[in-house]
Amino acid sequence: MKITFLGHASLHIEVGDFSLIVDPFISANEKANHINLEDLKADFILLTHAHQDHILDVESIAQRTEAIIISNYEIVSHYQAKGFQGHPMNHGGEWDFDFGRLKYVNAIHTSSFPDGSYGGQPGGFVIEGEHKTIYIAGDTALTHDLKLIPMRLSLDLAILPIGDNFTMGIEDAIIASDFIECDKILGYHYDTFGYIEIDHDEAKRKFFEKNKDLMLLEIGESLEL
Ligand code: NI
Ligand code: MN
Repeated sequence: MKITFLGHASLHIEVGDFSLIVDPFISANEKANHINLEDLKADFILLTHAHQDHILDVESIAQRTEAIIISNYEIVSHYQAKGFQGHPMNHGGEWDFDFGRLKYVNAIHTSSFPDGSYGGQPGGFVIEGEHKTIYIAGDTALTHDLKLIPMRLSLDLAILPIGDNFTMGIEDAIIASDFIECDKILGYHYDTFGYIEIDHDEAKRKFFEKNKDLMLLEIGESLEL
């Protein structure tokens, strides 16, 4: 599995021959202006919730690639009504896709489209593919529900928001990593806006002091599992 950070909460994930894009917010992110949207392969687009900073580039990517949009029922219905392909899920549900098994899990946040219309309940994803299991938290607070994940799934990597203000911050993300029983964390949802700027060295040090590894990728940089 190859995971590329596209800035903010946007990810490109290669699982075998399949390409997944998660929460594309690229064209309006000045920090990601070296990422060319047109170059991104996508067979599936995974959306954690309907906020603008997670769905901005969905339609342009889906139009070009005919990717299948996977999210909660309300978000997928929204895109299906516009003629896009989708696969609706809801919390607790799992499905075997061509790329692997996917579970839509709980997140504590909100979810409305930019026009204020209902975007269902926000979530995160657990992806099992190529004998690896990763958790993408989406925008979430620290919540006891995180403890449910390792009861059945053993994580190789967790992607957690760490920017604070709109989601959990560093201290809560450290507790979250205990809850999910995963010490290998890729941070995201930081630095994009003034509200969520973080001190990278301090963040890494705080995880290190708890014997955990916080990775922060440059935009466009990848890691492989
Ligand atoms: Ni959000
Ligand atoms: Mn967000």
